[in-house]
Amino acid sequence: MKPIILDVDTGIDDALAIAYALNSPELEVIGLTTCFGNGPIEYTTRNTLVVLEKLGKTVPVYAGADKPLKRGLKKFPTHVHGEDGLGNKFDKAPAREAESEGAVDYIIRQVKKRPNEITIIAVGPLTNLALAVKKEPEIASLVKEVVIMGGAVFTAGNVTPYSEANVITDPEAADCVFSSGLPVTIVGLDVTMKTLLPKEKLADWSALNTEAADFFADMTRFYMQSYETFHPGIGGCALHDPLAVGITIDPSFVKKEKWNIKVVLEGEEIGRTVAHSEGEPKIQVCTQVEAETFLNHFLSRIF
Ligand code: RIB
Ligand code: CA
Repeated sequence: MKPIILDVDTGIDDALAIAYALNSPELEVIGLTTCFGNGPIEYTTRNTLVVLEKLGKTVPVYAGADKPLKRGLKKFPTHVHGEDGLGNKFDKAPAREAESEGAVDYIIRQVKKRPNEITIIAVGPLTNLALAVKKEPEIASLVKEVVIMGGAVFTAGNVTPYSEANVITDPEAADCVFSSGLPVTIVGLDVTMKTLLPKEKLADWSALNTEAADFFADMTRFYMQSYETFHPGIGGCALHDPLAVGITIDPSFVKKEKWNIKVVLEGEEIGRTVAHSEGEPKIQVCTQVEAETFLNHFLSRIF
């Protein structure tokens, strides 16, 4: 089993990624860390605990950053994830609370305790990871791998024509992580926008007649409606965060190229992830995906 820390800003595709990871025997999910992003930290932490409760899991949750490294909080993407971050399906407060230790200290403590063993899968803004590597630079050589859902390297962004949501929400954090020496693999829109969950699959989930499957079907239906607004006729939604989990389970789902990545920090193209080859390329950028193989694997595991 591969020990992983899943860093999330739970929203809807984060929830799908959590279920996928917890239902995959190849992964040992040792903890979840939360960040603002698809909502304020209070919501994303609460949502993570709600999703775990729906799944009947008691993995510890550690709350993290409530704002970007340097910029103010922007408007949350309620049009995509709902006012509550769960497609407006939040029904009752979770029984459990987050641990008292903060996300950044948890990441540092675990990576130092289990050197070169832990994979961090980060599917929200990279603020927690940036704060961790700033506080303890040596973790860059102690983390086994960092798999990031974020960026749009050779394709258009989804917030502006240039930038993807997780990166533009905290561009300084992303730039810090990409230049920190952490062993990063970028799962960007280049591949995630090719991983479409067809809307017809939601009926299969509802037919299972379980609280978890009903909750996930209802929540994902909201997400698909927002996709239909921006991509009329798309007929489903992109599995951004689940693909980062998927390639951690089976790297053969994607093809990668090595680049260095610079993040644009000002002007019209702020948050753009620019590939360059100055110096030895260190970042693995996913450029192709076996979308059908991945989708079938995801569907075979999610419930
Ligand atoms: O651009 C997609 C990413 O932004 C996903 O991680 C989604 O959950 C949002 O955080
Ligand atoms: Ca996310």
